[in-house]
Amino acid sequence: MTATSDFQIAPSILSANFAKLGEEVDDVLASGADIVHFDVMDNHFVPNLTIGPMVCEALRKHGVTAPIDVHLMVKPVDRVIGDFIDAGATYITFHPEASEHIDRSLQLIRDGGCKAGLVFNPATPLSYLDYVMDKVDMVLLMSVNPGFGGQSFIPSTLNKLRQARQRIDESGLDIRLEVDGGVKIDNIAEIARAGADTFVAGSAVFGARQESDLHRYDTVIGRFREQLSQLT
Ligand code: DX5
Ligand code: ZN
Repeated sequence: MTATSDFQIAPSILSANFAKLGEEVDDVLASGADIVHFDVMDNHFVPNLTIGPMVCEALRKHGVTAPIDVHLMVKPVDRVIGDFIDAGATYITFHPEASEHIDRSLQLIRDGGCKAGLVFNPATPLSYLDYVMDKVDMVLLMSVNPGFGGQSFIPSTLNKLRQARQRIDESGLDIRLEVDGGVKIDNIAEIARAGADTFVAGSAVFGARQESDLHRYDTVIGRFREQLSQLT
């Protein structure tokens, strides 16, 4: 299992207040978040419509220097990859079902200087990794069906996480294992024990605003870290 100190918390800004997005991202990073998870939905691959490369670029111009983890729920995906490379993304992940040429899409991301990842829906097999393991920097397992925040964690993801962890460890490569959907204070430890090292949390973080404090998400992020530090 990955060292405790390497666990990363990635709040999904899907649940942030979009009218104050720069401030929300500043607050969540000042509260101890490691990565900004950026959900891009096209009302075609998934039944919802969110934000695009202009918003990513605006966050960079606002002064955000933390890694931005762009989760593309967009089909087709290749042209949008270029837009997000230009917009300052750090990670760009996409779903295999959204690309006609998975190897090419992964290469496009890396050629643009970004880290590449594949995203697996709950019913999508890990075998998509078979021939591209050396081209991914991140494996992202969806623990809900993509499209909306606030859904419940699908328990079979735990077994899939164990399988993904085994594949990554056997590869000997430096690949992060991220989980996305329904991550809460009361299940993050179990998810970490199954092998995840990077935790997306939207509603659990942004639903816990501490209106009175300066760094308004300290408590919830602190409680995530507390759970992760007590792993057995
Ligand atoms: C769902 C998105 C998630 C979502 C997670 O399609 O990919 O990133 O924001 O939200 P929670 O943590 O509320 O399940
Ligand atoms: Zn996501």
